[in-house]
Amino acid sequence: MPRIEENARDENFWHTIAQRYDLEHGPINLENGYFGRMTRSVAQDYQHQIDFINRINSVHVRQQFDDTQSTEIRNRLADLLEVDHASIALTRCASDALQSLIGNYNGLQPGDQLLICDLEYPSVEYAMRWVARQRGLEIIEITHSHPATHESLIAGYREAFERHPRIKLMTLTHVTHRTGLVLPVQAIVQLAKEHGVDVVLDGAHALGQIDFDLQAMGVAFAGYNLHKWIGAPLTLGFMYIDPKRLSSIDPDMGNQRLPEPDVRNRAPYGTVNIPAWLTLPKVLQEHIELGGSAVKGARLNYLRNLWVSEARQLPGIEVLTPDDPRLHCAITSFRFTHLDDQQPMVERLLNDYNLFTVARSGSACGSCIRITVGFATTLEDINQLIKALRELSCNASA
Ligand SMILES: Cc1ncc(COP(=O)(O)O)c(C=O)c1O
Repeated sequence: MPRIEENARDENFWHTIAQRYDLEHGPINLENGYFGRMTRSVAQDYQHQIDFINRINSVHVRQQFDDTQSTEIRNRLADLLEVDHASIALTRCASDALQSLIGNYNGLQPGDQLLICDLEYPSVEYAMRWVARQRGLEIIEITHSHPATHESLIAGYREAFERHPRIKLMTLTHVTHRTGLVLPVQAIVQLAKEHGVDVVLDGAHALGQIDFDLQAMGVAFAGYNLHKWIGAPLTLGFMYIDPKRLSSIDPDMGNQRLPEPDVRNRAPYGTVNIPAWLTLPKVLQEHIELGGSAVKGARLNYLRNLWVSEARQLPGIEVLTPDDPRLHCAITSFRFTHLDDQQPMVERLLNDYNLFTVARSGSACGSCIRITVGFATTLEDINQLIKALRELSCNASA
């Protein structure tokens, strides 16, 4: 067994990792998809940075942060993604980055079409609809067939490009928030290129749990956050623009801060959470020391597969996220097939089994319950979920 897979099953090792987090007493959290916890040492460093910036105020920020330190932070992020230092602009979250990329993309002409799918994150979908309304363009929305396969996802885009040759810009979600489906980004971006379509990649859930190569994927525009799987304090995100494509994105409304051309002018202007950014070196150090996304992702996949392999066998339960290892990660959704609305079962999981989960709706495959394991999830937590699903599925099918 390769070393990373072996490590993913090493409960002693992951117990020591779980010990790095302070956990509030309460329900078992199987909703780690909203944002990630900081480790205790990161939280302490963050507190230290808050106190420091509060004491020193603008003296440090103007003399150090605005220029040297924020550049060093951008460089660290570029190194993490193995991309050009000039390709990164800091933002407050993935939504800010993605909305600016979409709103400022300047390659659209009257009559062009924009492509979205039923799995897009709302802030991204709304931004595409807003641009279409403002400029009188048409939105093409495709619905992915369910259950999805690697081939069906690519075929869905191929068909859209062939049927709608005026599509010029599309959004693509690397890891979808409703079901955790992982899209075959490289193949879709390649196909888009062949049809003259530019892609804005939503990487919010990918960074820190999927080991990807942005350049090999051929992505020119992407938005990320650092407060999910990287484990940074809340309010940290960034934008990636391939420097060769910088001229395709106009400076953001209200941002002419730096002489052109500069990727930083593409991000929203405003005071950022400086103590949080100053914590990032510590966060990245811990991420890298743990083994990065490959090691983190393998553990999350292992935990996910433990409950999914049981749930697949249960009558009255449908797991919506494919088992193809290319198409899933930590997040997986299921539903009780006898119910249209899954919220009552979310409440039963909490009240009867002490399991905190979240209902998600909006994708064409219907309302579902999202389970997202995390770095502090234990085998006992997974066993509790399996017990709950067995009992609730028996009741449902009785
Ligand atoms: C797929 C996806 N895209 C974008 C976002 C937005 O991220 P942020 O909260 O950093 O704006 C999220 C947040 O959950 C998401 O799941």
